[in-house]
Amino acid sequence: MTKIAPSLLSADFSCLSDEIKRIEHTADMLHLDVMDGHFVNNITFGPVVVSAIREKSRLLFDVHLMITNPSRIIPEFIKTGADIITIHAECQDELLPTIRMIKNAGIKAGISINPPTPLNIVAPLIQEIDLLLIMSVNPGWSGQGFIQEVLPKIREAKGLLKRDNPAAELEVDGGINLETGKQAIEAGADILVAGSFVFNSIDPGKAIEDLRCAGTVTCSCHSN
Ligand code: DX5
Ligand code: ZN
Repeated sequence: MTKIAPSLLSADFSCLSDEIKRIEHTADMLHLDVMDGHFVNNITFGPVVVSAIREKSRLLFDVHLMITNPSRIIPEFIKTGADIITIHAECQDELLPTIRMIKNAGIKAGISINPPTPLNIVAPLIQEIDLLLIMSVNPGWSGQGFIQEVLPKIREAKGLLKRDNPAAELEVDGGINLETGKQAIEAGADILVAGSFVFNSIDPGKAIEDLRCAGTVTCSCHSN
């Protein structure tokens, strides 16, 4: 079954612990978008906030670092209790030592690629990672439209992982709703990140369940 990782970026930042309660019992993990105002134009939060909300949730923390030169701050994120830390292939640090820094701390390591970045950039590292995150929007903001041109890359990534690292998971992030979620699942996604679709919903728990079975032909979720 597909895993759903709601992105806290679309939550109400004035009451994060209440927002987490809305998804705590239905989500598979919590996706945390860290932005530095340099790698992307937006700025969100850092390790202090991740540590604070760690005490409010038992979910797996899936930390997505949209920051330049993440290796300087990764030790701080390791201390937060993050379960997965994902860096970007475009982050301007050496990728392999940075991945090993995360894994040596006993934390799962992911690599993400932006929509224009070809898969072959990360192919040599595929056996080193626990997670491959394919961006289906240009990172920086929630609420953007899913870039359809990314679908062939998701299919190709699934093939690469099946061949070279079947234990690693394939995550797709950006513009996910019931229609694009179904497309991403059919292309091979194991984990869907969803920000606005979940947190802008009146019933986030139902939104997560609907999304989880979006790719299942026999699912009865949408019949009533
Ligand atoms: C975008 C972030 C995404 C974003 C997803 O830079 O990495 O995780 O919050 O939000 P939606 O689902 O609204 O596109
Ligand atoms: Zn993200």
